[in-house]
Amino acid sequence: MTHDRAAALAQIASEVRACTACRLHQGRTNTVPGAGDANAEIMFIGEGPGFYEDKQGLPFVGRSGDLLVKMLALIGLKREQVFIANVVKCRPPDNRDPLPDEMLACKSYLDRQIEAIDPLLIVTLGRFSMARYFPNGKITQIHGQPKYDERRAYMPIFHPAAVLRNETMLPQLEADFRRVPQILAQVKAQRAAKTAAPETPAPTPPPEEPPKQLKLF
Ligand code: URA
Ligand code: SF4
Repeated sequence: MTHDRAAALAQIASEVRACTACRLHQGRTNTVPGAGDANAEIMFIGEGPGFYEDKQGLPFVGRSGDLLVKMLALIGLKREQVFIANVVKCRPPDNRDPLPDEMLACKSYLDRQIEAIDPLLIVTLGRFSMARYFPNGKITQIHGQPKYDERRAYMPIFHPAAVLRNETMLPQLEADFRRVPQILAQVKAQRAAKTAAPETPAPTPPPEEPPKQLKLF
């Protein structure tokens, strides 16, 4: 299992390194396929490589990465224990937003990474990875609120770069990270219940937050 996952990730990374499927390959120094533990319980999905990531071929190694590592330490984790990837694997020129056709061209790599790792929790950083799971979500309203499906949880958080620009958001980022252990426990319980009784229906997911409107009554 362990080996299968690592082998699948290595295969994906080697395909990424040779990829010319979108225009972003033209300006890159290195591709940034993603890095971390193939058996990670948590996967972080950012936007795309920046200056330092492009130089090193590794995700989140600049200032945003430093903040991410600090947040991980709050919950007793090192970056080597999670898996970190991006929506696009090559740096957009001048750090512009990735374009729809670029994200589409790169999508299958990320899809396959998620399938290989099968994480308990996917944490999205920034609006492009958030849009995969929360298409109409507004980050200021939904950050830190996990959503569950049969397999795992998904939680959007602020992009560390946004918090670096506006440090008043830092306590919210910290609070969102501190919810992670509880979310992992929830998904583990859900998966264990499934394994124990595969014929019975999955346990009901945790109650959703009531719709915002209800709070008016
Ligand atoms: N910002 C991102 O979204 N991804 C990185 O890898 C680095 C900075
Ligand atoms: Fe290929 Fe993705 Fe790089 Fe585009 S961004 S060239 S699709 S690896």
